[in-house]
Amino acid sequence: MVLQAIQYEPASADSPPSLHILDQLVLPHRTTYVPVRNCEEAHAAIRQMKVRGAPAIAIVASLALAVEVGAQMKTGNLPAAPEDVKDSINQRLDFLKTSRPTAVNLGDAVGKLKIVIKKAALQPGASAESVARAYIAAAERMLVDDVSDNRAIGEYGARWIEENTTAGRKRKADRTREVAILTHCNTGSLATAGYGTALGVIRSLRAADMLTRAYCSETRPYNQGSRLTAYELVHDEIPATLITDSMACALMEREGDHLAAVVVGADRVAANGDTANKIGTYSLAVLARHHGVKFLVAAPRTTIDRDTASGKDIVIEERAPEEVTRIKGPRVTADGKLLLDEGSEMVSTAAVGIDVWNPAFDVTPAELVDGVITEVGVVEKVDGKFNFSAIFPQL
Ligand code: MRU
Repeated sequence: MVLQAIQYEPASADSPPSLHILDQLVLPHRTTYVPVRNCEEAHAAIRQMKVRGAPAIAIVASLALAVEVGAQMKTGNLPAAPEDVKDSINQRLDFLKTSRPTAVNLGDAVGKLKIVIKKAALQPGASAESVARAYIAAAERMLVDDVSDNRAIGEYGARWIEENTTAGRKRKADRTREVAILTHCNTGSLATAGYGTALGVIRSLRAADMLTRAYCSETRPYNQGSRLTAYELVHDEIPATLITDSMACALMEREGDHLAAVVVGADRVAANGDTANKIGTYSLAVLARHHGVKFLVAAPRTTIDRDTASGKDIVIEERAPEEVTRIKGPRVTADGKLLLDEGSEMVSTAAVGIDVWNPAFDVTPAELVDGVITEVGVVEKVDGKFNFSAIFPQL
């Protein structure tokens, strides 16, 4: 079975397009797909983190609007004039963009989709249907492109690790040696249209028979590592070990140069290479530098925000205190067993009344990032600075 966070069916002769997402709130205990029928449902699913991960958020939002527009076409409810279809789509995109603030992929998708429909509405002989069709086709293309981009990221990352890390070079010289990787949060099939970014690099290393073991951190407080990444690694039968976030330092000390790299994803990479990613990423980068372990960010170009000069300009989402003060506790079954599943209750783990700070992301300074793995190659610093202009087409 291929893991899929997003299930999208294009329109057929009989039915409009449809969208279902894997509900990540109940993973790993239950595999349930829920329908996303319109922008309100997409907005809520993204806010509640039924779907999360920068690329997946952007794709679900874009496709939810494709579903909405497709339904309007089927029922004859599109506005009559092409300009009105364009305005209505723009308005819905602006609404979707407010769902979560830190990941740039959604903003990037919104910007690109707005250009597509602007051009479509300006075409000679444009109609309401032609603008709607142009929107749907562009949103559908994002789903397809994301998977191929992730596979390219995986290949480039695996090759870079083989050529530029101590463990990788040893492996190249002696084919019996292999490398270990530490990753944080979830960047796999669940966070993207498929394959994943940092987890895509791990998948590619595994496919090339280079990987001894993947380590994934628990990623408190939302536990994307223990719930989602561990689920993907077990699903793919990749040798993997879960650690709590506080064990990373001891792991680096124990593994020595067998640990080739820490590979993480990103929610927004600023123009200078400062990288916003799941809370805890920055600590890993500091630890990696201390231990001489390479620190790599794996992200498609849609995550690189050239309009944001540095990490200081990135808005960091703060989430509910309850994510920190409560966990899902086990429930006791009729025969006395302890079970952690969808029937489990939330259990408090903190003193009632304590103040909580719960930033969902942190910013790793570019200084600590050894390379940004994109779908067109790995960008490294030149004279201590990242310059991403070479990987973007000149307009
Ligand atoms: O809060 P989340 O789960 O949406 O945070 C996800 C991350 O931080 C990922 O590392 C990032 O979005 C990249 S996913 C390919």
